[in-house]
Amino acid sequence: MSYKKITAEDIAYFKSIGGIHAVHTDEDALTNCASDETEDLHYLPEVVIEPLTVEAISRVMAYCNEHHITVTPRGAGTGLSGGALPVYGGVVLHMKRFNKILQVDKRNLQVTVEPGVITQELQEHVKQQGLFYPPDPASKGSCFIGGNVSENSGGPRAVKYGVVKDYVLNLEMVLPDGNIIWTGANVLKNATGYNLTQLVVGSEGTLGIITKIVLRLIPAVKHDLLMLVPFRNAVQACEAVNSIFLTGYTPSALEFMERDALEWSMRYTKATGIDLPEDIQAHLLIEVDGNNPDELYKDMDAIGNIVQQFDIDEILFADSHEQKQMLWTLRRKVGEAVKTNSIYKEEDTVVPRAELPELLGIIKSLGKKYGFQSVCYGHAGDGNLHVNIVKGDMSDEDWNNKLTHGIRQLFTEVVRLGGTISGEHGIGLVQKGYMDIAFNPVQLGLMKQIKQVFDPRNILNPGKIFAG
Ligand code: LAC
Ligand code: ZN
Repeated sequence: MSYKKITAEDIAYFKSIGGIHAVHTDEDALTNCASDETEDLHYLPEVVIEPLTVEAISRVMAYCNEHHITVTPRGAGTGLSGGALPVYGGVVLHMKRFNKILQVDKRNLQVTVEPGVITQELQEHVKQQGLFYPPDPASKGSCFIGGNVSENSGGPRAVKYGVVKDYVLNLEMVLPDGNIIWTGANVLKNATGYNLTQLVVGSEGTLGIITKIVLRLIPAVKHDLLMLVPFRNAVQACEAVNSIFLTGYTPSALEFMERDALEWSMRYTKATGIDLPEDIQAHLLIEVDGNNPDELYKDMDAIGNIVQQFDIDEILFADSHEQKQMLWTLRRKVGEAVKTNSIYKEEDTVVPRAELPELLGIIKSLGKKYGFQSVCYGHAGDGNLHVNIVKGDMSDEDWNNKLTHGIRQLFTEVVRLGGTISGEHGIGLVQKGYMDIAFNPVQLGLMKQIKQVFDPRNILNPGKIFAG
């Protein structure tokens, strides 16, 4: 694909638009936007623009559309599928100045927020008003809500409270031609025409630039309890997940960590106070929450009894806020810990929950067949397993070629089990070559036509989701 390269004249135009904080062309600014948290990828943009107003974005888009210049929107750069990488250069539209929580509507339990607000700050802000925004990706302390909407992020609480899409009511966005629209209405029910809002959620910055987000909130939940259960057999840990639900419990988090995941995270965070006996293969981190502490203790006991039916070691019940924080930090840091340990690729497999034990078995046997080592962890309660394939001592040749076949086979098995190839990280750049496993040409054709309708000149975040 060929796009117009950016000239001094283009830069001068961008600088002449009002409502822009900065137009960067210096090496530092460009390099900062060349990578995200995905593997070790690097694509330099030609210019980084930090808009302050929706009108300014509209003018940038209209200009780029007319001149066939690519625009890649960027939030905090915490993405794990390369969605924010400017693979054809062009403009990176950095949304960090869109960082206001515009309105908390307590009467309707809603918040209107700009996309550059850090997710955790949003959560804390609404919590002060007795309200709760549950989706909490591992990167919640640094990721932006706009990126969460673009990727339809999940996180540990999704198992009880749902993912980002379940909270997005309405979006303001700038279309690639510069038009500014709202996608829906600030209502809890909406049967009015096509659901543009939900089409844009998870569209990975390929359909428009999100400039305002209206989210549904729920009343804050007062109490939670947390326990860490060590299993001698990792497949059994996955089986226990299903037993918990089938017995009638819905934890507010049900996370799986293979031994290496926990061990590496313990080393990375320098955590102490957790025993990791030799014979432990995996852990479940289980949280229950609610407003009645007595009920919660009963639920925790009951869940404790369910997991006792499996081959487990002693359960650790977190008995203080600090211990809960420590356990959650360990869980949230697994991704970073793996990253610092080795070159790796992360697959974001998801299957119907009851198929999780089979999925884990398949991953391990494919590892043997293709010679890779994997560290699995993730949101077992959602059937969402992050498979980190570590390079270890694999040769470059095997890593670059043989492994692709292994991943294709893994995804083929995932789809056979009724699952799909990304649960919450998106397709972006790194998974687009596998989309044909999840969708046939008719399905892919429909998606491509949708893209075409929104962005006929294919200037907005090109090179993502679709292989060709
Ligand atoms: C996590 C991120 C990688 O669950 O999704 O830690
Ligand atoms: Zn995750």
